[in-house]
Amino acid sequence: MVRLKPEEAAVVFDLIHARRTVYRFQPMPLPAGVVEHLIEAATWAPNHRMTEPWRFVVVEGVAKEELAELRGELARRRAEREGRGLDRVEAQVAEFREPAVYLYLVQQVEGDLVRQREDYAACAIAAYIVQLAAWSIGIGVRWGTGLMATAPEVRRQLGLGDNQEIVCFLGLGVPSDGQLGVGRRSDHLRFTRYLGRADQIEPALAELADDGAWLARGLGLRRHPCFN
Ligand SMILES: Cc1cc2nc3c(=O)[nH]c(=O)nc-3n(C[C@H](O)[C@H](O)[C@H](O)COP(=O)(O)O)c2cc1C
Repeated sequence: MVRLKPEEAAVVFDLIHARRTVYRFQPMPLPAGVVEHLIEAATWAPNHRMTEPWRFVVVEGVAKEELAELRGELARRRAEREGRGLDRVEAQVAEFREPAVYLYLVQQVEGDLVRQREDYAACAIAAYIVQLAAWSIGIGVRWGTGLMATAPEVRRQLGLGDNQEIVCFLGLGVPSDGQLGVGRRSDHLRFTRYLGRADQIEPALAELADDGAWLARGLGLRRHPCFN
């Protein structure tokens, strides 16, 4: 059991708060070995019955260029189907080229629906570990779904088997100064019901509601009984 000092634990909570989706990247490679470190970290995600359902496909260099071309082709076809102009396609492809590497997170689909749900959850956690660990070392990640996760042509290009499903693709790169994800969340109290201890929690709720940033500032951590 690890029990961090309050100030060390505050760093972990701060990291969770500070992580943002990165949308724009500088045209430069990642330091050698970093993707391997991130993948290794991802394999420590919890997974029920140790199914280790994740498969990782790292797309870089020539393979990334082929994927970018496919991105363009799919975007063109969709625009034509929907009767839209092609004026945005070039920019979309240029944007797709920006991350140094694409890491496809693929679920090995086995067993009944319960297992499949559990394994999907485990893969999503693995993806989040990559995002969080990358952020901690200054590498940006964009989590992608949609066309480039569902098109049969993408599956073919990645060489996926029939029982392998793409969970997401993570674009990894050195962030540029550009756009970041939404740095805002609703108050967690909106989504939480406490059962069985209503009388104790009421005053605490009032306090937290008045002081939404308690955790980010680290004050709450020090006040919390777990850290005394
Ligand atoms: C399951 C999932 C799918 C996502 N798909 C996309 C996507 O296709 N394109 C995209 O730009 N962002 C995608 N995102 C990123 C979210 O839009 C992003 O997490 C959200 O805006 C909150 O921003 P933050 O990550 O900076 O907190 C996805 C995130 C998740 C968890």
